[in-house]
Amino acid sequence: MNVMHLSAECYPVAKVGGLGDVVGALPKYLCEAGINASVVLPYYDRKFVQENTFDLIFKSTGILGTKTFEYNILKEKNRTLGFDLYLIHIPGLLDRPEIYCYPDEIEQFISFQLSFLDWISKSDQKPDIIHCHDHHTGLIPFLVSHTIAYSNLASIPTVCTIHNGQYQGWFGWDKISYLPAFDLNKAGLLDWGNCINSLATSVKCCWKFTTVSPSYLKELSINSNGLEKLFQMEEAKGSGIINGIDTLVWNSETDPMIFKTYSLDSVNAGKKENKKQLCKEFGLSGSKPLVVFIGRLVGEKGADMLSEAIASCLDTYKGKLNFLILGSGDPKTEKELKDLPVKYKKQYGVYIGYDEMLSHRIYAGADFLIMPSRVEPCGLNQLYAMRYGTIPVVHKTGGLKDTVIDLKEAGGYGLSFDDLSIQSIITVIGRACEVYEDPEKMSLIRKKLMSLDFSWDKSAEEYINLYKSLSND
Ligand code: ADP
Ligand code: GLC
Repeated sequence: MNVMHLSAECYPVAKVGGLGDVVGALPKYLCEAGINASVVLPYYDRKFVQENTFDLIFKSTGILGTKTFEYNILKEKNRTLGFDLYLIHIPGLLDRPEIYCYPDEIEQFISFQLSFLDWISKSDQKPDIIHCHDHHTGLIPFLVSHTIAYSNLASIPTVCTIHNGQYQGWFGWDKISYLPAFDLNKAGLLDWGNCINSLATSVKCCWKFTTVSPSYLKELSINSNGLEKLFQMEEAKGSGIINGIDTLVWNSETDPMIFKTYSLDSVNAGKKENKKQLCKEFGLSGSKPLVVFIGRLVGEKGADMLSEAIASCLDTYKGKLNFLILGSGDPKTEKELKDLPVKYKKQYGVYIGYDEMLSHRIYAGADFLIMPSRVEPCGLNQLYAMRYGTIPVVHKTGGLKDTVIDLKEAGGYGLSFDDLSIQSIITVIGRACEVYEDPEKMSLIRKKLMSLDFSWDKSAEEYINLYKSLSND
């Protein structure tokens, strides 16, 4: 079975967050399970693209409104990622270094989707399934079903995965001329709240949609940035499949980015050494519990609460613990985190920016990883932390609820809290400090965490079952 994934991100080609990780890993595991999975990405002028070799396999022209554009389909030559990777290159539109936030982002992603459809509609080898990720590829299910030019694709099942329902790819009806001629009776499928909403369109038109955790599927009907009614109506078409992690990339026994590799048996010594080096780098003491946060500094992640929460915890548990933050995002939050009073200096470190290597070192060196997320469709950070024997401390929401069992419960291995407030964070951090004081307990929990299985095997199987239910292949 031939499954083509379309996405804006794919690690290590282009990653901003977990979408990149998932699209960089899932196809690899699908291929191992016998599915011919490939990824189609916009062309980005970034390291991976510059350092690898691509063949030009197809070129043609597309139309966006009143303009024509040329596009090239490039295929990576050596299957470096463990699956076929295709890039859509459009001079002047898809040939830039950044992944998001250009003022003509709508034009970029519509051209991306149109070029893809034009290419496969002219190709002899059609996919058995088109798998779209997030709103950047959300118009595809509509376009294959209702556009005259692509009518030869109409029988191909489309699956959409929602990694993040907050961003929806909205644009005004004034840009409708960007889309090729379609059945006008179907125009309502594009609309939500008097504008074109790519994510809503994908949910309405895809054959099946998935969310990246079962809890998030339920939450979308209650809280999805205006799409609640839509998710209530379309619930039967959805299923929640929890993300896995790439256990080859995230492996404390082989990770070339960490200071010292370690296994389940050597976890205590290994983490001690990684923590020592990490703390040295940030001027922190290696003997106190180290609580870390890694992630996008945005409201969804609860990042706006961090500076107050850290200051309150450091005041409450004077001299008893250290915090370390790695992240970037909202400038106000960045500033608050950089400007935390000097009195906390020896107990607090921060790196504002994106640094893949540092993230690995932090997962390996930390004792606890805190995620005070307001919304967390799945969350990969807690899974990486656990894989490195770091105890997750999470707000019970979305995928965090589905993957972290509190120590108070049978078989538990993490710390969690129900209501998101500074006081709950202070309380849960107090619990973390207590656990840390018992080295034997710490050791047992670390070993338990490292023996948990969050690999892709089971989740890839669930996607395969979904594909099989839709395809005749
Ligand atoms: P989201 O996709 O919502 O950002 P996830 O938990 O699914 O959240 O995935 C976040 C991914 O991005 C993880 O791989 C995490 O390590 C990485 N990440 C986030 N911020 C940074 C950063 N500042 N530096 C390095 N890696 C980061
Ligand atoms: C999104 C979500 C995150 C999820 C990731 C990968 O960006 O915010 O929770 O883990 O996608 O699916």
